[in-house]
Amino acid sequence: MGVAVEVSGLTKSFGSQNIWSDVTLTLPPGEISVLLGPSGTGKSVFLKSLVGLLKPEKGSIIISDTDIVTCSEHKLYDVRRLFGVLFQDGALFGSMNLYDNIAFPLREHTKKSENDIRNIVLEKMEMVGLQGAEGKLPGEISGGMRKRAGLARALVLDPEVILFDEPDSGLDPVRVAYLNQLIVDLNAQIDATFLIVTHDIGTARTVPDNLGLLFRRHLAMFGPREQLLTSQEPVVRQFLNGRREGPIGMSEEKDVAQVEAEMAALEARGGDAHNGVGPKGASGGDAVPPQLEPSPGLPERKAVRRRQERVARMLHEFDPDTAEAIRASLPEDLLAQADAGAFTPTRGSGGRHWAPEADAAAGGSTATAVLPRSGGEG
Ligand SMILES: Nc1ncnc2c1ncn2[C@@H]1O[C@H](COP(=O)(O)OP(=O)(O)OP(=O)(O)O)[C@@H](O)[C@H]1O
Ligand SMILES: [Mg+2]
Repeated sequence: MGVAVEVSGLTKSFGSQNIWSDVTLTLPPGEISVLLGPSGTGKSVFLKSLVGLLKPEKGSIIISDTDIVTCSEHKLYDVRRLFGVLFQDGALFGSMNLYDNIAFPLREHTKKSENDIRNIVLEKMEMVGLQGAEGKLPGEISGGMRKRAGLARALVLDPEVILFDEPDSGLDPVRVAYLNQLIVDLNAQIDATFLIVTHDIGTARTVPDNLGLLFRRHLAMFGPREQLLTSQEPVVRQFLNGRREGPIGMSEEKDVAQVEAEMAALEARGGDAHNGVGPKGASGGDAVPPQLEPSPGLPERKAVRRRQERVARMLHEFDPDTAEAIRASLPEDLLAQADAGAFTPTRGSGGRHWAPEADAAAGGSTATAVLPRSGGEG
């Protein structure tokens, strides 16, 4: 089973440029989480921090009892083996064929024989549908094949945590659908903890158990998918509906009056459900669509039941719309237990976070609600 990744109070800057501050979230073991955010908000920086390639200056990242922000290089090298990473650009070596690219981590990190390596490489290539392409160079194949080769390489060390940086960018919609199915199927087969960075709203709505959004140098929200999909937070709704109207601007934040005027016009047109289609996936209004399931013949995702038990304990913490959507996903036995008061509050059990208001951060609570709605950093 995958391991939990517990991030708390994480802050990263480059020189005087702060990328994000006080990011707190837990990736629950074996669950699939998606991290969204406008371009340049530091999603890739976050993934690189999780594997220790970048050093945040504050906060902690606990994986298997090790804090990788402060641990020794030696320890970091060990912990890094728990990770598989699919980088944004695939990061394949251009002069190596796919076989050697995929074999690379095994040759680098293990003492396995070439024979064992061969078996593993061919197994993973088959898993991602690349059998027969061993001898191709990265430059000779399509972008979609490169993504899958990067994924096969991320899998060879049997990772317990897999990070995907925009696995679906540059792919046509049909290939995105196949890739999403592949991700869910993989999760069912290996039960590792997944974190996916994507700009695809369709992926965000249907693949993950948990959703998060980075905005204005903070984690605006992170929690069960139902929490974000039913959220009324303007920035969450704008992003998940892929629309222009709202706090997120093309290059910088908009002023309050402009956002208010846009929202009034949107309301007059009938709100998000009638907003037409965003560039990447249909506008969804408040809907919580069904989650993608593993292909027929594959085992069920073990994370599903674990997650149901986890969110059943959290039901009382959500607003009525979110609680209703979560209840709809729960089996009878857990609903009955929740209603009988069997679950005591488990604040801090992970998988849920609201950004504290910027000026109320000193209180140290992560359970207060709203993001500053507009105007500057407060
Ligand atoms: N090694 C680095 N040194 C200095 N600045 C960096 C470095 N890596 C990233 N940055 C800066 O950090 C910010 C966030 O970059 P990042 O690549 O994480 O964005 P992103 O959210 O992944 O965007 P996109 O959606 O476009 O991929 C950018 O302003 C970038 O210039
Ligand atoms: Mg990026």
